[in-house]
Amino acid sequence: MEILNDLPEEELLALDGFLAFLGVYEDEGRLEAFARGLFRLGMTGGVVVEAGAGLGRLSEVILEIVQPDRLFLVEENPFALSVLRRRFGLRENVEIVPGLVEDFHPPEAVDLLVQELYGPLLYDESLAALERLPFRPGRIFPDRGFLKAQVVSFETLGEDVLDSATFRELSGALVSDLFPDFEAWGPQKTVLAWRALQGLERREMDLSDLPGDVVVFGVEVWDGEEKLCDPVICPNWPFVFTPRTGNRFDLSFSYLGGLSRTVFRWTG
Ligand SMILES: C[S@@+](CC[C@H](N)C(=O)[O-])C[C@H]1O[C@@H](n2cnc3c(N)ncnc32)[C@H](O)[C@@H]1O
Repeated sequence: MEILNDLPEEELLALDGFLAFLGVYEDEGRLEAFARGLFRLGMTGGVVVEAGAGLGRLSEVILEIVQPDRLFLVEENPFALSVLRRRFGLRENVEIVPGLVEDFHPPEAVDLLVQELYGPLLYDESLAALERLPFRPGRIFPDRGFLKAQVVSFETLGEDVLDSATFRELSGALVSDLFPDFEAWGPQKTVLAWRALQGLERREMDLSDLPGDVVVFGVEVWDGEEKLCDPVICPNWPFVFTPRTGNRFDLSFSYLGGLSRTVFRWTG
């Protein structure tokens, strides 16, 4: 989706963010995986915060499975907030909180924080916000995530529009959804590991033992020892492709005021 006309910058940013997330809600695999995970968690009642409640689809799942005594839906996007107000404004145990979750000071101890702030490169959306919370929830769900990579040969992609020489011109760019038919997820390396309250760990990367000219990245969402999602189970997280022009690369992120930036470069 793309906004085709001029709008005031602030409105454009908010609307663009809102539209960017709409596809998330069509991913039934994601909702089912999160529902199964929440059920397995076995927590009921108590005070729950959903960090970034969006349109409230996961909020419905939380209400049904966890049945919290009090649920705070924290959301920074004004368009999503009006949806949440229409949907949950009259629910007695639900409170809608505008703003960033890292600025939220809950009035009582939080038993559970539910979040889905994973980007297609793991840390390129808002997971960093959870390292800046002014409160400490009893439990964060899901509590883990990985960015994994595999190297494949261009020929196996079955691509008939882009040839391999043209693809190589994209060197240095990380492109999501480029080969939509790709589904052969067989991760060979862990690039990043994230754990709630511990933060992000960047693993030493060396692809020299792997043949192939295309690097494919994919996010895996885990809770404890259970994998909830990968890009095949939950297509909300698309595969990300880049031409392989070396064996080592650097991938780093910055996050400020709800906005994140990603930097990628080959180093050797
Ligand atoms: C991927 S959507 C997930 C929505 C919902 N939790 C779900 O799983 O269906 C992420 C939502 O979090 C909001 N968000 C992102 N970072 C946030 C932050 N730091 N504080 C509050 N909301 C945030 C976005 O505006 C978006 O609506």
